[in-house]
Amino acid sequence: MVDSRITGFYKLSIDERREAVARALGIELGRLQRTLDSGGLTPAAADKVVENVLGVYALPFGVALNVRVNASDRLVPMVVEEPSVIAAASNAARMARAGGGFVAAVPEALMRGQVHVYDVSDSEAAKRRLGAAAAELLGSASSSVPDLVALGGGPRSLEVRVLDRATLVVDFFVDCRDAMGANMVNTIAEAMGPRVAELAGGALGLRILSNLCDRRTVRVRAEVPEQELLSSRGTSSDEPKAEGGRVADGIEVASRFAELDPYRATTHNKGIMNGVDAVVLATGNDFRAVEAGAHSYASRSGRYAPLATWRHRGPTLVGELEMPLALGTVGGTLRAHPAARLALELLGVTSASELAMVAASVGLASNLAALRALATEGIQKGHMALHARSVAITAEAEGDEVERVAAELARGGPVTLERAQAVLEGLRARR
Ligand code: MEV
Repeated sequence: MVDSRITGFYKLSIDERREAVARALGIELGRLQRTLDSGGLTPAAADKVVENVLGVYALPFGVALNVRVNASDRLVPMVVEEPSVIAAASNAARMARAGGGFVAAVPEALMRGQVHVYDVSDSEAAKRRLGAAAAELLGSASSSVPDLVALGGGPRSLEVRVLDRATLVVDFFVDCRDAMGANMVNTIAEAMGPRVAELAGGALGLRILSNLCDRRTVRVRAEVPEQELLSSRGTSSDEPKAEGGRVADGIEVASRFAELDPYRATTHNKGIMNGVDAVVLATGNDFRAVEAGAHSYASRSGRYAPLATWRHRGPTLVGELEMPLALGTVGGTLRAHPAARLALELLGVTSASELAMVAASVGLASNLAALRALATEGIQKGHMALHARSVAITAEAEGDEVERVAAELARGGPVTLERAQAVLEGLRARR
């Protein structure tokens, strides 16, 4: 079994980290090196993925540690440009792990496709005719995706909704197995479309999936012992439990603020998506689809709301997240993207639903990290330390100079390129 705790990981060099990950997962080190040294995707491979290719555009590829989901440890690949996201998720995952880790579930995994019909003379009568022909429509839908049906997936049901006097939509639901399923659902929609319009007695409109995947949601829960919320347990206070309780109270207050105010809920959800999107990107999935679905789902009550909430109950901080997450472990860009395939291998997930549960857990971890920082010292302290590192690198500090220059910048005063250059010059003069 994988152990997602690797102490001192952040202090290792890139080569040492790769060795530690390869060792922990039993993956061939050479493959890890070859895939990641080439930026994960060559220009020739990229040319097969999109159009008018000039090259590739790289982003940092890291791993979150300490993640435990449904009693299994995972090293979670994350692709993200924002400093502190990976460290924060790893740190919060360690806190959740002390309470048993994340408990996640995917209650059902059905994609929704839509066939739109307009200029219908009698939409209520059309609805009745379409309802009566459901078996025929689902049969022809199944015939359009034989490979999916052979894998045990396929269309499962349909519903007819009248949108106005002359417009209706047939929503159909498809089990896409381990694919995200956009292509399959669109194939079915196009195959069904003409017969739907004929039965409805109207003009055929759009035939496309819906990214509001409210029947492909994931739920995650974490129970964090309150004393875990302290940065240095037992040293910052004589009463770590009481201190931890105050932090848990602060996180609940932050959650309630997001529950009351859409302006805050948007930023709260952005913090969740920091974690979710990084896993979605690393595994070659469609982050625009995930974003569109998440924010639409957050508005389903008529008011934009947080996707995750937190309550302080007894000695425990309880967090719950629910969001739509249509991800694939097969198909899409995955075939062409070696780093995305590697990411899935590092994760060791065996199904798309398992991937969704891990991505959502990292989302809840990211949310916890953000709220904990906001409810205590604020986020700037941690951000400035990391910002100082990137300014040191921009000033062309190398090797151990990076940490030394960053530490000096973070001690106080402006964190600027000019100051970093001056600190670096001083350091080199002294050597
Ligand atoms: C920054 O990327 C994310 C946060 O703004 C999230 C939040 O405010 O909860 C820190």
